[in-house]
Amino acid sequence: MDIKAVILAAGKGTRMKSETTPKVLHEIMGKTLLGYVLDNVKNFVSEEFVIVGHHAQEVEDFVKNNYDNAKTVLQSPQLGTGHAVSMVCPSLENYDGLVLILCGDTPLVREETLKAFVEFHKSHNSDLTVMSTIFDNPTNYGRIIREADNSLKCIVEEKDATPEQKAVKEVNAGIYCLNWAKIKSAFGQLKSNNAQGEYYLTDIISWGKEQKLNVNAYILEDSDEIYGINSRLNLAEATKMMNRRNLEKYMINGVTIVDPDSTWISEDTEIGQDTIIYPATYIEGKNKIGKNCKIGPCAHLRGGVEIVDNVKVGNFVEVKKAKISSNTNVGHLSYIGDAELGEHVNIGAGTITANYDPLSKTKSKTILKDNVKIGSNSVLVAPVTVEEGANVGAGGIITKDIPSWALAITRSPLKILENWVKKKIR
Ligand code: UD1
Ligand code: CA
Repeated sequence: MDIKAVILAAGKGTRMKSETTPKVLHEIMGKTLLGYVLDNVKNFVSEEFVIVGHHAQEVEDFVKNNYDNAKTVLQSPQLGTGHAVSMVCPSLENYDGLVLILCGDTPLVREETLKAFVEFHKSHNSDLTVMSTIFDNPTNYGRIIREADNSLKCIVEEKDATPEQKAVKEVNAGIYCLNWAKIKSAFGQLKSNNAQGEYYLTDIISWGKEQKLNVNAYILEDSDEIYGINSRLNLAEATKMMNRRNLEKYMINGVTIVDPDSTWISEDTEIGQDTIIYPATYIEGKNKIGKNCKIGPCAHLRGGVEIVDNVKVGNFVEVKKAKISSNTNVGHLSYIGDAELGEHVNIGAGTITANYDPLSKTKSKTILKDNVKIGSNSVLVAPVTVEEGANVGAGGIITKDIPSWALAITRSPLKILENWVKKKIR
């Protein structure tokens, strides 16, 4: 059965207190919240609809530039989560497959969880399934209210809840699976007579019950996954949760993380066995690190980095959009950006690739072939290629390509003035 996803991303995100960035474009280790949600569904749905509203243009640009199968649908004004979903009704008029609804501010949910959720929906012949979980502190989430026989009754938002309802610890994850043809008419019938004056998506549960449809809840065991981001405090907490999960995965797969408390590694980084990550290392975005490498302490990989095997990236080294081939060392205090380093290359301390021209605002590439040795404190002014085996003397400012096996030196010759100091003192 066909599955399409609807991702709600139009809300203002008032509690983030951000003038410049819509909530769903805030980032966890180099990836936007919305990016996590889209990545989690893109492998098993045929099409994604992202509902945009607040900062619509930025969110739309983000979606267009990064996701081929995703469409954006404008919701303006933003009258609530139910109103948001109703925006896709014209696009799905004759559709009779499944619709998976998710929130753009819930990045921790896993792809496997979403697949299991859809399977549950199918195997229970459900018309409408909502994901729930148990929170010790359910504050701010919609509460799942059940009948005496434990079947679902409705969802009540925090602001509409009685003290009794507030005590309920089963909460709405904000993720739903619906048989579209059976549920779509609900969206014309939602009411906004609640504390927030909004059209609540959550009201489709009681609507479905009234229509005598098969409405179910899927209780998610790992409640961390549906942690929603509404404030900067939530963002920091979610980043920690995401990081802990990633580090565990690497350690289980044979990577040594010397200090998990000070190491940050993004979900989209692959790391080979026996690589050691030293403390205070920050790895964001998409990267691939091979086997037997030593990274850090205090290294910063900023995405688009490919490191092959037996590579050393030492302290205070920043790497961005670069390939570092096997047995190469970038030991200390370097910046390597927009670069390709061959095998058995040695980069002396303090070397940088000058990849950015601020006047033309363009970036250029540095290519170092196999066995190149760069002396300490050199500047490789891109675009530039150092051919195989060539050496650059310490302090080199390299503005031209260097041929194979040559030595390039740009410093003025050393002068020694005998007894100069003594004469000065006298
Ligand atoms: C919502 C649920 C709540 C649930 C929680 C889970 C409703 C009414 N409440 O509450 O039951 O426990 O999520 O995280 O659905 N959005 C729009 N258009 C709008 C309003 C919101 O696209 O008009 C988007 C937001 O950008 C956000 C998502 O919908 O991505 C959820 O909205 P938010 O205001 O965060 O709802 P919660 O209060 O968290
Ligand atoms: Ca939310």
